[in-house]
Amino acid sequence: MQLEGQVAVITGGAEGIGRGFAVAFAEQGANVASLDIDAISNQETIRQVREKGSDGLAIDCDVADKNQVRRAFNSVVQRFGRIDILVNNAAVWVDTALTSGTYDTQAVAFEDSMDICTLGSFYCALAAVPAMQSQGGGTILNVITEHIHEGHLITGMAPATGYDCAKWAQWRLTETWAAELKPHNIRVNALCMGATDSPMFRATHDSPAEVMPTDIAQAALNILAHGQDGPTGESYLFAASGTSREQSLREIAALAPGG
Ligand SMILES: NC(=O)c1ccc[n+]([C@@H]2O[C@H](COP(=O)([O-])OP(=O)(O)OC[C@H]3O[C@@H](n4cnc5c(N)ncnc54)[C@H](O)[C@@H]3O)[C@@H](O)[C@H]2O)c1
Repeated sequence: MQLEGQVAVITGGAEGIGRGFAVAFAEQGANVASLDIDAISNQETIRQVREKGSDGLAIDCDVADKNQVRRAFNSVVQRFGRIDILVNNAAVWVDTALTSGTYDTQAVAFEDSMDICTLGSFYCALAAVPAMQSQGGGTILNVITEHIHEGHLITGMAPATGYDCAKWAQWRLTETWAAELKPHNIRVNALCMGATDSPMFRATHDSPAEVMPTDIAQAALNILAHGQDGPTGESYLFAASGTSREQSLREIAALAPGG
């Protein structure tokens, strides 16, 4: 199995794309810790992880809280002894328009967008890197979006400027961490995909997306398959909205070594 003996930490693993990573990684032999604020759904994710024959740990953790993040990573190391993979997946999609809501609602929405996605990714990397360094390497995957060059409003969607800014910051973190962590044998890459079926997607669309969380998990496995000498600092753009399912699956397959 591809990830036998490895330990993966996934943020926002209680549902949607995060659960897809957790279950697919477990199927490949990884033990999985999922950090989420939705305790009940998080337990269900870990039940599915165990069903695949791996060990799992559901941790109640708000990734926007640096003290909770530090405690969560301490528990992972205590339980599993190492951290090979960190997937910074947790995020929220909320309206941050200047022309709707109130001063208070929009300010809080923008803060949440940045705190969960950008600060959360930073805290998790800060907590994971010491374990990766001490064991001689690891991999960080940042889950971003296809909208790294054009914000959602520009492409005809809602004005989610907080989400767009948080994702853009994650994009910059990806290339900078890749350079900083290369001497430590830690690869850092980003998944920049389009519409994917999940509770976040269904909250704003009437019909399901064609691309499924299992497809995104396969994309992650294909990137991980390059091993420690593989590419780093890449923001892989694939399965953009409007691309046919067949083409999206071909793009995902092409992320694998030799693809
Ligand atoms: N669904 C899409 O179309 C799509 C497209 C491109 C990128 N993405 C990205 O993929 C990732 C996963 O998205 P999704 O569609 O599965 O979202 P989702 O809303 O369905 O799931 C997000 C998970 O994050 C958790 N979460 C929220 N706030 C948290 C916090 N403070 N601390 C810990 N966990 C928290 C939620 O409880 C939930 O389990 C996100 O980064 C999103 O931006 C999604």
